[in-house]
Amino acid sequence: MLSEFLLAEMNRLGAQDALPLHRQLYEALRRALLDGKLAAGEQVPSSRDLAQDLKLSRNTVVAAINQLSVEGYLDSRVGSGTYVNDNLPRASPGQRRSAHGQSTAAPGRLSSRGQALATTFCATALEVQPFTPGIADFSAFPLALWQRLQNKHWRMTYPDMLDYNTSGGHAPLRRAIADYLRVFRSVQLDADQVIVTTGTQQSLELCARLLADHGDPVWVEDPAYWGAVKAFMATGLAVLPVPVDEAGIRPDAADPARAPKLIYVTPSHQYPTGAVMSLPRRQQLLAAARQHSAWVLEDDYDSEYRFSGPPISSLAGLDADGRVLYMGTFSKVLYPGIKLGYLVVPKTLVEAFRQAHYDLNRPGQIPMQAALAEFIEMGHFSSALRRARQNYGERRQTLLEALAPCLSSASEAGHAAHISGAEQGLHLCLHLPATVDDRALAERIAKHGLSVRPLSSYCLARTDLRGLIIGYGYAPLADIRRDGPLLARLIRQHTQGF
Ligand SMILES: Cc1ncc(COP(=O)(O)O)c(C=O)c1O
Repeated sequence: MLSEFLLAEMNRLGAQDALPLHRQLYEALRRALLDGKLAAGEQVPSSRDLAQDLKLSRNTVVAAINQLSVEGYLDSRVGSGTYVNDNLPRASPGQRRSAHGQSTAAPGRLSSRGQALATTFCATALEVQPFTPGIADFSAFPLALWQRLQNKHWRMTYPDMLDYNTSGGHAPLRRAIADYLRVFRSVQLDADQVIVTTGTQQSLELCARLLADHGDPVWVEDPAYWGAVKAFMATGLAVLPVPVDEAGIRPDAADPARAPKLIYVTPSHQYPTGAVMSLPRRQQLLAAARQHSAWVLEDDYDSEYRFSGPPISSLAGLDADGRVLYMGTFSKVLYPGIKLGYLVVPKTLVEAFRQAHYDLNRPGQIPMQAALAEFIEMGHFSSALRRARQNYGERRQTLLEALAPCLSSASEAGHAAHISGAEQGLHLCLHLPATVDDRALAERIAKHGLSVRPLSSYCLARTDLRGLIIGYGYAPLADIRRDGPLLARLIRQHTQGF
């Protein structure tokens, strides 16, 4: 019964937050629409009936319905009532909200792919609050030095450097990246295998376009990096979620009937759980890729920040048959707006990738690439990294200490809460019991000016994971000292009794 569902949802929302009634009803109706409790094209009960069933004023109901109409969920037809929009995209299980915990309405006349892109995993606004995952502290970036290098390279620029680039990127930058990867990531490569891109997003799209056809299956870790999911959706691939555990992706849990063409993984620090893929699992994954003749896309997005435990080598370093394509980014060590990353492709694919990159993306930015090459060659990259590691290491330690009471109170209450992924990167994952509503918890925390993300919002098909993804990159140490105990208190309050 619709009204029973709405009442239950409103009760849940009302118990959690002081939302006004029309907002509670709006949220409850929206949930009913996204969950398919109201089918596309179906007539919505009249505002008079709804008001009567739910014991609300008619104005409250009209306000909620109007908002849903404005956002495109409902169609109000004068004289004949209100209907569910025919094009309303259904969120698949686990994808009902964005990584920020919100769904957005389908805007106007988009293709069905456009609608899916616009309504799943939408980053609404850049949150820059303590504990936002995935954001580094850009204030530490040596701007004055960077500016001097930029000026120098602009002065030295010759006309060819202003043209599109056909060689996969500025040669000195490709050499600098290759040297770094050989030494620090154990990747065996020549500089001509490096393709400079505008970041991981572009690297993923290039791989999807060149190595798979429309509708081909791609294994994606579940829970997933939503940026990768979007890249595969945008290129028309069929995303097959494969669960991860504490040793990484589980090839044995994938549907054996659908051989993947691509396998996307984050082996050094699974995004978002932080699991490090074990050596046996890496071998199992490479064997599965061989068996399916699949390409493996290794996203090594934050391996530069390793705080404890032995260094983790890349998966590409283990690859004997040239089926791993390795990708990295400068977003985390420098700043995301630099829009520079790289893709390492097997020798046999170099020409095809360079050509396609040129045809599809028209790469350029050579003066900027020249400045970055010098930044790396002169050791500034290594020093920036050393400073950042020191800084983030302290923040991480302070956050871990602040969260310790959440772990002990959970074990006293006889349930499991644990942290994963804190040895590396800029975020950790606090796992909570499966009965905890982590979205509601994240919303409650947001009301205190702190921003964490619910683990369940990264899940594609899974329904068993609850927790919080907590970042320590953005907030200065003093803020983590100040807000860490508040965060821990909110978590304990919310999880007590679960
Ligand atoms: C798993 C993962 N890969 C890659 C990136 C960075 O991608 P880009 O180079 O497109 O900025 C991020 C950023 O948050 C990420 O979380």
